[in-house]
Amino acid sequence: MSDTPIYSQLVKHHKLDYSPFHTPGHKCAGFFPPELLSLDLTELPDTDALYEASGIILEAEKNLAELFGAKRTLISGSGCTLAIQTMLRLASQRGGKILFARNIHRSAVNAAALLGIEPVWVMPYSDSGLFTGRVKPEDIEQALKKDSDITACYVTSPDYYGELTDIKALSEICHSYGAHLLVDNAHGSHLAFTNKNLHPIHLGADMSACSLHKTLPVLTGGAVLNIANEEYVDRAKQAMSLFGSTSPSYPIMASIDLCCDYLRNGGTGKYREAEERVGRIKLHAKKNGLIQPDGECDPLRVCINTSCAGIKGNEQTEFFHRHKIEPEFCDGSNAVFICTPFNSEKDFTRLETAIDDFGNRVDVRLGLSQDKNTIKLPESVMTPREAVFSKNENVPVNSCCGRIASDSACPCPPGIPVIMPGERIDEDVISRLLNSGIETIRCAEN
Ligand SMILES: Cc1ncc(COP(=O)(O)O)c(C=O)c1O
Repeated sequence: MSDTPIYSQLVKHHKLDYSPFHTPGHKCAGFFPPELLSLDLTELPDTDALYEASGIILEAEKNLAELFGAKRTLISGSGCTLAIQTMLRLASQRGGKILFARNIHRSAVNAAALLGIEPVWVMPYSDSGLFTGRVKPEDIEQALKKDSDITACYVTSPDYYGELTDIKALSEICHSYGAHLLVDNAHGSHLAFTNKNLHPIHLGADMSACSLHKTLPVLTGGAVLNIANEEYVDRAKQAMSLFGSTSPSYPIMASIDLCCDYLRNGGTGKYREAEERVGRIKLHAKKNGLIQPDGECDPLRVCINTSCAGIKGNEQTEFFHRHKIEPEFCDGSNAVFICTPFNSEKDFTRLETAIDDFGNRVDVRLGLSQDKNTIKLPESVMTPREAVFSKNENVPVNSCCGRIASDSACPCPPGIPVIMPGERIDEDVISRLLNSGIETIRCAEN
């Protein structure tokens, strides 16, 4: 037993010298000045206050709003989770229902439960069935036409695999029905700085929650809520204070400030250079026959289907560790790599070498999915709030048929959850959960 289990393991992991293709975007590459940690101060007369910002924090937020092209940008020191909670709180205050694309992160499910939101679901669609897929604009339009109580639509774009939803089309449709478009852009803060501006705020979203730390040089926990719709500006800080800590971390907030300065002074050029480099890696993977998501995708994220090269399940991580690479995520069939300018050329070369190592093993038939867009929506019998706050218990999956889930369960977060709190578990859900190795689930007590 170690006296410092967390610290010691972090030091040990660091010494492995794996190429970091995971968050945070700064990749521990020495972006921050060493004195940053010695600035772990608190809200003092001259250091402003996050929820009543009128001094230095407000000034930093104005710089960020200009950078992202937003009417108002709010700093969060508690990740994108706090930005999502704030966004949903603001939208729910308008009344009516919220339409959610089902590939939703648990932070939004939890926020919906806390706020008493009753979601209306729309399923994303994937041609290949290999990745999450995107919501189709026509499905959003149909939902809005069918239910005039829908006042907002919530989508996740990009998704974990880098697939981008057509935000421009969605925002036009939503606005024509008087609904607002809310985007969980946790993985896409950098999309304002790529060759083509693909950021949701630029494309017409009303609000967008951005996990800066995931793809930009910001300390873990640093995020923003970007607001484009004036209607939300006045209430936004108060909405955030409902969920946020009253002790926001100044090093995190200062790291956001440093990142903003970097991007305003040449950093965007570095993102564009990295985009070119990553484009060559994607091309290399394509030439080697590896399957990647199609359509418009995050230019800085590499996602390859490794099962088409016969590498699946636990073998994935072992394969990449042999190449001294730490992916962001392996779901058993696909591997995801987050690339930023803070990856070195050595990192990119290692990734290309790993791609070469798939060699002539690639057979696209091996990657084909058996599960093409067949997920049915389970019956909803309670609101998420009722289910989450019900008396609940852990139940083995193989004996929970007919029970009501009190938590969401997702085979490989953040894919498409199989079950949401308040939904009835049926045989189809059970087989999906068991197939993804989930053996127990929290259910409302009978
Ligand atoms: C799609 C998505 N949304 C929201 C979040 C929450 O972000 P954070 O960890 O910054 O709170 C995550 C985290 O992984 C995510 O993947």
